Amino acid sequence: MAKYFAPLLRKGTGAFGHQFADQAKQHRAILVNLTAKVGSIGDNALGGWYSYRMSKAALNMATKNLSIELGRGKTKVVCVSLHPGTVNTDLSKPYHRNVPKDKLFTPEYSVNCLMNIIENLDMVKTGKFFAWDGSALPCLKGDTTVQDRSGQIKSNGDV
Ligand SMILES: NC(=O)c1ccc[n+]([C@@H]2O[C@H](COP(=O)([O-])OP(=O)(O)OC[C@H]3O[C@@H](n4cnc5c(N)ncnc54)[C@H](OP(=O)(O)O)[C@@H]3O)[C@@H](O)[C@H]2O)c1
Repeated sequence: MAKYFAPLLRKGTGAFGHQFADQAKQHRAILVNLTAKVGSIGDNALGGWYSYRMSKAALNMATKNLSIELGRGKTKVVCVSLHPGTVNTDLSKPYHRNVPKDKLFTPEYSVNCLMNIIENLDMVKTGKFFAWDGSALPCLKGDTTVQDRSGQIKSNGDV
């Protein structure tokens, strides 16, 4: 999909996200891949879920690759992976029993959280993997940056 959408994204007006004053750091569009926390290799402490974990880890790699290729030239596109939290949908239905009530989000709540993150994205954050609350997730061990509520990237040093 990215292959076919990229030429259109590069023609965008940059209406979403945070724009730097410096034109060289501005973006034309934002590409968001919906991933899952279980796709984080660094965060995996439980095992299981082989196919789902592997497909999301691969998607995170695609995000990283795209961020490099669409970060070149004058018409840049911000590319990120976002984890929506555990959301009350058909996909998560089989697991609802094990999810505390306050951790099972409505789609509306989750989308609202993701839009808050998207509104703060810029070329500094491209290639990264964020959860619904703005915290940065490690694709691999050693990726230790975190985004606070104001959208600032910091190192959390504990991953
Ligand atoms: N729900 C969660 O707790 C959770 C947690 C982490 C990550 N995610 C991720 O969030 C995304 C959405 O999940 P969800 O919970 O909304 O899943 P879902 O309830 O299974 O819904 C998936 C949606 O994708 C559409 N779809 C599936 N295959 C498609 C295709 N080939 N082309 C076009 N549309 C297609 C389906 O359309 P139809 O209805 O027409 O089949 C459906 O609307 C997924 O990537 C999932 O991995 C979800």
